[in-house]
Amino acid sequence: MEKLSVRLGDRSYKIIIKPGIIEDIGSFVKPVLEDNKVMIVTDENVNMVYGQTTKKSLDQQGIETYLGVVSPGESSKTLSVAEHLLEECLNKGLKRTSTIIALGGGVVGDLAGFVAATYMRGINYVQIPTTLLAQVDSSIGGKVAVNLTQAKNIVGTFYQPKLVLIDPNTLSSLPEREFRAGMSEVIKYGVIRDEEFFHWLEKNIDHLKDIRNLIYIIKKSCQIKARIVERDEEDRGIRAILNFGHTIGHALEAAGRYSVFKHGEAVAIGQVMESKIACNRGLITQDVVDRIDNLLKKAGLETEIPESFKEEILKNMKNDKKSTVDSNYFVLPIILGKVDLFPVSMREIRENIF
Ligand code: GLY
Repeated sequence: MEKLSVRLGDRSYKIIIKPGIIEDIGSFVKPVLEDNKVMIVTDENVNMVYGQTTKKSLDQQGIETYLGVVSPGESSKTLSVAEHLLEECLNKGLKRTSTIIALGGGVVGDLAGFVAATYMRGINYVQIPTTLLAQVDSSIGGKVAVNLTQAKNIVGTFYQPKLVLIDPNTLSSLPEREFRAGMSEVIKYGVIRDEEFFHWLEKNIDHLKDIRNLIYIIKKSCQIKARIVERDEEDRGIRAILNFGHTIGHALEAAGRYSVFKHGEAVAIGQVMESKIACNRGLITQDVVDRIDNLLKKAGLETEIPESFKEEILKNMKNDKKSTVDSNYFVLPIILGKVDLFPVSMREIRENIF
């Protein structure tokens, strides 16, 4: 069992990584409960595999447990689904002292966290992420949100969980494509913060499914993210470095109407494009770009923008809320393991994309 802490004063919490923890979730959750009522928020797919196991383990601890099941996918991250869950909380008699459990991937985590943040002006919640992306990124740091039709994650807040429980065994039932998409964020941590970790990934990329390696990459990623969140909980400074690969990545996701590329897939392409921009500016050598490119490819990810998306990406970048009149802010590597923020003009972006 691995235990990490996110130190945020009275909002501090533990991250526990343990294969098989889902089967005994009740005994890990019980110590953070303030009363006896819990609502598990999950989606239909995760519910089929882990819903009953989780509920049974909580029941065995004498915890009164309800299930709030939503449809899988981004379409559930809306105000109306949140409203339905809030009504469920009220109907089942959840109080200010009750707890919500987010059991699932990034969508469930963001949605359940949003419900927890708003029900009775905020109740406790626990994250049980079941995808690699959620285990290494979205379950940590308290970003909770729902989408509006016009924009993703536009309604939300920062609201930290009381506990994050990670069961690496859940990754064995994860579709391969989802695993690869999560690896994009894992590799990103090496590029932005830890050259040694990047090197370790290069050496072990073909053996990541070995449980010891899985635990290691989850732990390392959580550690890196936790240290950044501790310094900048509300994303006003250094937390921006987590967005390496995301400026182009977000534009690409939008160009694909959020159905062509998974978030991690778009971020993989973004990481290579943004490394190329850094290289053409003389910040890093071609060798660094090649290492990032090769590692992402070995993880099974595409690293080039498909031709048909290029113009649309440029158009999206012009509309990006982080762009000034003619430039966007990019997180660019300055050596392997370190990044900084730079304004990049539309001309420079165009030159690197085409
Ligand atoms: N996923 C980026 C962040 O949590 O800030």
